[in-house]
Amino acid sequence: MKLHKTRESLLDTLSSYRQNKTIGFVPTMGALHRGHLALISQSVSENDITVVSIFVNPTQFNNQADLEKYPRTLENDLQLLKTLKGNLVIFAPTAEVVYDQKVLSKSYDFGGLENEMEGKHRPGHFDGVGTVLNIFFRLIRPNRAYFGEKDFQQLQIVKKLVEIEMLNVDVIGCPIVREANGLALSSRNQRLSQEEREEAALLYQTLVQIRENFANSSLTELNAMASEAFTNNDFLSLEYFEIANATTLKTAEEKNHNVPYRAFLAVFAGDVRLIDNMQVSP
Ligand code: PAJ
Repeated sequence: MKLHKTRESLLDTLSSYRQNKTIGFVPTMGALHRGHLALISQSVSENDITVVSIFVNPTQFNNQADLEKYPRTLENDLQLLKTLKGNLVIFAPTAEVVYDQKVLSKSYDFGGLENEMEGKHRPGHFDGVGTVLNIFFRLIRPNRAYFGEKDFQQLQIVKKLVEIEMLNVDVIGCPIVREANGLALSSRNQRLSQEEREEAALLYQTLVQIRENFANSSLTELNAMASEAFTNNDFLSLEYFEIANATTLKTAEEKNHNVPYRAFLAVFAGDVRLIDNMQVSP
């Protein structure tokens, strides 16, 4: 396992693999957990070499405090990665290395995907994600790149980015990894108190409740069910709940057979923002 901090040293290592070996890529912002490790393991099993980037990307944070408080645990991350089998290359650059002089986002039209849910609540977020991934994809030129369904909207946007930028990479979606109580693993969970961590199982429980009631309830009833689940909760406040078409990510106006629907929510536990989602139909 080798750690690279500059483009030159990364490219130097990758150049020997380009000819007849496959490169898998797992972009992360570090504070690694089992969710990240699942993506890395899948890449290791499907590629000759796996590049893991660890970079807290400033341009995708619309909230300065969130950026400052985002956990940075590079030493721990490296220790954890050392325990994994497989041919790993770690890229942990600074913002100067990634962005050169100007830490700025490109402005993207992702065909409307960027205007739903996270896009509405985090203005500019997906421009930042698109910009940094476009830089990484062009530098690393991976055959496959791995993304978690935990950030389902991001996954759809990355597929669109690859189309727009005409990049030659297979984008692979991977299932959400959860705690025993259902809480989706997230780097931000490190900032939760023990009590908040336990309460936060409500995100998962609510999604399961919606999935179980989907066939026999109206969309209005389902939306009410979700918002009621969070009323009067001392630890959690619901920012949004939406049932959306899993392909277009547009809010469901009616239930159609054969359309895949997914439920999405964002919840604050104190100042920690948590998101989760689940396929609810078919
Ligand atoms: P980060 O939040 O570190 O997540 C890195 C990858 O891990 C993403 O594809 C995310 O969906 C996946 N992931 C996180 N928690 C997961 C879980 N519980 N189960 C399965 N996969 C999970 O997402 C980002 O970083 C950034 O936006 C990035 C793509 C690196 C661009 O800066």
